[in-house]
Amino acid sequence: MKSLFHLSFLLIFVAVFSSCQDDPAIEENINNDNYAIISKYLNVPEVPYNYTPQPPPHAGSFQGNPDDKFLHPEQIKLRNYKARAGRALFYDTRLSHNNTVSCASCHHPDKAFADNFQASKGFEGIKGQRNSLALGNTVGFEFAYGPEESTESAAFSWDDTVENLQAQIKMALTHEVEMGMTMDEVVRRVREEELYQALFDEAGPHREINEDFVLEAIEAFVNSIIAVDSKFDKEMNKISFPDPNVDFAGFTEEENRGKALFNQNCSSCHGKAHTGVVKAASNNGLELNYSDQGKGAVTGMVEDLGVFKVPFLRNITLTGPYMHDGRFETLEEVLDHYSENIQPHQNLGNQLRNLEGPKRFDFSDSDKDAIVAYLHTLTDNSIATTEKYQNPFK
Ligand code: HEC
Ligand code: HEC
Repeated sequence: MKSLFHLSFLLIFVAVFSSCQDDPAIEENINNDNYAIISKYLNVPEVPYNYTPQPPPHAGSFQGNPDDKFLHPEQIKLRNYKARAGRALFYDTRLSHNNTVSCASCHHPDKAFADNFQASKGFEGIKGQRNSLALGNTVGFEFAYGPEESTESAAFSWDDTVENLQAQIKMALTHEVEMGMTMDEVVRRVREEELYQALFDEAGPHREINEDFVLEAIEAFVNSIIAVDSKFDKEMNKISFPDPNVDFAGFTEEENRGKALFNQNCSSCHGKAHTGVVKAASNNGLELNYSDQGKGAVTGMVEDLGVFKVPFLRNITLTGPYMHDGRFETLEEVLDHYSENIQPHQNLGNQLRNLEGPKRFDFSDSDKDAIVAYLHTLTDNSIATTEKYQNPFK
């Protein structure tokens, strides 16, 4: 898998390098007229924030978005302008059929870019089928980094079948419950607004606003959201050879015990360092018969029935209720499930089985408390206040 990634880096490099030759002068894309228009509507600085996601130091020596290794610095700079346009689009209800819903309606910055409803309501007030997913690591799905190099590649959505972020964004915009648009209508509305004419002019001088450009802008913003400043990260960053297995000096005894229990019982799917994808999708035995068949509903394969994405657990304390259908209100209920209620589903992950059938962890109350205490250390509260992620509209 890794060598495939390297090959794609090389291809990106070749593509970018050759396309740079005839790029217009990116240096001078700050245009006072544009900024005068932009600042009529948005509270943003003239030179955009840096929207390149920074993995935590413990994720390895390479700092930056791993796919940037081979990008021309000018391309990276341009992406900040794209992300600024994408940030406005993300918070703009005009991207839904009846101007009522934006991406942020279901992906709130103060809820780690998820929401707290069992299922989110779309533009007509109709509830969807699934619990909103937190954003905050999407860049890691395609390019994982760190000690926990991806052993599998993950896709988007609870059913783990949407191949890339742009496809996911397009799906949200055109989804009959979520935003109810056609891509033509999205592009028409964006082109009409002087705000977006100015933002996109800065993001790609002389480039036409079209579907690709709109999707690239939202993608650049979403990929910039990265939740890596948790207590867990701070401890990992302190040790010279970051190892999630050792006790952390700054953790309480309970947090360290919870970490050990988690690493022993949960990390075979969810990972230990929370920087890469260990198991992309699996079944965790919520039911014998699922009403939503997850991946199987899309692929039609028997081995995919009841299979769902293994979610990142960063910021998990902010994103309840839990599971694809939001069936559990609290992390305590999640622990009760793993402890006593795993169902012998035909596709139950091997990590949750033994010879007799589903594992019963039979965690004691203090074990459960310890695991929950550990899960709390994965919260990065800063993303709720980081200015560059917030609603920019005046
Ligand atoms: C009506 C609520 C709603 C709106 C509006 C909405 N989303 Fe979502 N989003 C969801 C739900 C629910 C899921 C999980 C979908 C699924 O699994 O089928 C999701 C999933 C995602 C994912 C996948 C995350 C992952 O880990 O796989 C991304 C990325 C995303 N949304 C981005 C966006 C963007 C960008 C917009 C705006 C263009 C948007 N969403 C609009 C509710 C919404
Ligand atoms: C076989 C792989 C596997 C193992 C082992 C596993 N999980 Fe999960 N976990 C999953 C899958 C798959 C989901 C999503 C299931 C769904 O929504 O249908 C999930 C969901 C979760 C969620 C909800 C996430 C959200 O965003 O709603 C939490 C919390 C969680 N697991 C914690 C744990 C803990 C704690 C353990 C150890 C006791 C554990 N998991 C062990 C596969 C696994």
